[in-house]
Amino acid sequence: MSAGAPVLFDGLAHEYAGPPAVRALERVDAEIPAGQLCAIVGPSGCGKSTLLLATAGLLRPTGGVVTVGGTDVRGRPGHVALQPQRDLLMPWRRVLANATLGARVAGVPREEARRRAQGLLGRFGLAGFERAWPSSLSGGMRQRLALLRTFLVPRPVLLLDEPFGALDAITRRDMQAWLQEVWADDGRTVLLVTHDVDEALFLADRVLVMSARPGRIVLDLPVPLARPRTTRHLTEPALVACKREVLAALAP
Ligand SMILES: Nc1ncnc2c1ncn2[C@@H]1O[C@H](COP(=O)(O)OP(=O)(O)OP(=O)(O)O)[C@@H](O)[C@H]1O
Ligand SMILES: [Mg+2]
Repeated sequence: MSAGAPVLFDGLAHEYAGPPAVRALERVDAEIPAGQLCAIVGPSGCGKSTLLLATAGLLRPTGGVVTVGGTDVRGRPGHVALQPQRDLLMPWRRVLANATLGARVAGVPREEARRRAQGLLGRFGLAGFERAWPSSLSGGMRQRLALLRTFLVPRPVLLLDEPFGALDAITRRDMQAWLQEVWADDGRTVLLVTHDVDEALFLADRVLVMSARPGRIVLDLPVPLARPRTTRHLTEPALVACKREVLAALAP
């Protein structure tokens, strides 16, 4: 169990210089408390990845502020663990080396990173594959490996950009159920970008819906469901009402 940190967006805005200049984000305000799993949904191109990159300090927003644990992280990487939209596994490195890469970059000594990764391989469905090449893994295994790499980065906030985007619906469901279990005893804050409304409602404590570009938050909805959740919960009236609200905000 690790401690999470709060994330604060205060009037966050971003315009890419271009050409063409693109206004990607406009006045994003939100406070995500420590330990919350917050899903972010919105139309393609509305600035979701831009929001995560700004939070990761990899992109300096042109307006507003983003803080992690009270620290201004604009233009300052190293405060969060980011899983980018593509899994970016290194094909020339074996599973274990891929798993430990982010932790190593974050300064975790090699042996410690390997020991922690070894200890988690089973839970991430990769036991016995430590010496395999990424190319020999299934799509679901690759996604779990990318998640393991992110998970091992010792940071209080995890940013996951469409972590299941490349998977078919059935594998996705399995992965969501699995992620919920992995998450159950991890106290970190998570921002999860997804296109899938059911996925957002199934996994998150709260769903933020963004407008089309320039992205703003048009709905901030708590998910009134106890844990552990099952897919059966998705058909409960309270959840169906939530889904209706999210879909209405997505297509006003
Ligand atoms: N490096 C860049 N330079 C210029 N424009 C960019 C750059 N990156 C993104 N954009 C533009 O900014 C807007 C927001 O992009 P972003 O990738 O944040 O959207 P997104 O919500 O993550 O989309 P998707 O759901 O398709 O992943 C888009 O119109 C995109 O074309
Ligand atoms: Mg994106």
